[in-house]
Amino acid sequence: MKIALFGPPGAGKGTQARYIVERYGIPQISTGDLLRAQLREGTELGMMARGYMDRGALVPNEVVIGMMRERISEEDCGEGFILDGFPRDISQAEALSNLMDLDAVVNIVVDESALIRRITGRRMCKCGMTYHIEFDPPAKEDTCDRCGGLLYQRGDDREETVRNRLEVYRSQTESLVEYYRKKGILKDIDGNRSIDEISRDVMRALSILEVGK
Ligand code: AP5
Ligand code: MG
Repeated sequence: MKIALFGPPGAGKGTQARYIVERYGIPQISTGDLLRAQLREGTELGMMARGYMDRGALVPNEVVIGMMRERISEEDCGEGFILDGFPRDISQAEALSNLMDLDAVVNIVVDESALIRRITGRRMCKCGMTYHIEFDPPAKEDTCDRCGGLLYQRGDDREETVRNRLEVYRSQTESLVEYYRKKGILKDIDGNRSIDEISRDVMRALSILEVGK
């Protein structure tokens, strides 16, 4: 099953991907996570991407598309994958469609007023877990439930950068909703609800695909 999770910053793409990974055993491929890993490792690619990410702009396509192409050709993607944060503009969508067809694009629709609160309250762990201080807190403050690591805030989660990221979403990414709707594979999900309610709807949308196979 090849699916993409779509939605603005803070919509809950990473959060919902975790449930799909558990249910279907296919890997989550987050371009944001891949770029942050490059940044942590201090690679040339990471150093180049830093400036763009710090100001909430898109990292240039020649870098991101190459990185994705490499990742989806890896062995663990044989049974499918969940794209999170890719594609993000029409060139990325076209590059992907030259490689393969997606089975579904799950569009998580959230009111803009909720997004900033979700992002500024987010806490991350280096193991990949994500929390929210109010909506999805860890059992012990600042500590990851899964690995015991110290939680931290993402560098681009400051309010000013978040506003930029939202603007970039509106101007460069949002038009892909219609692009995929025209292809007949878009599933809109109301993201203004609890994490569990959204997850139930996402699973329902994906199980219809399973039956169709
Ligand atoms: P990326 O890492 O992809 O960030 P993003 O798209 O801005 O999305 P987020 O990760 O912020 O949000 P999310 O939807 O995953 O929400 P989450 O589940 O964490 O990209 C970062 C940067 O990398 C970009 O700005 C760009 O520079 C670069 N980049 C990445 N991909 C690129 C590409 N393809 N091309 C070019 N550049 C690229 O949830 C958010 C918070 O809300 C969490 O705390 C969570 O616990 C909470 N939450 C989730 N669901 C709910 C709910 N239902 N109710 C209450 N709280 C909730
Ligand atoms: Mg994310």
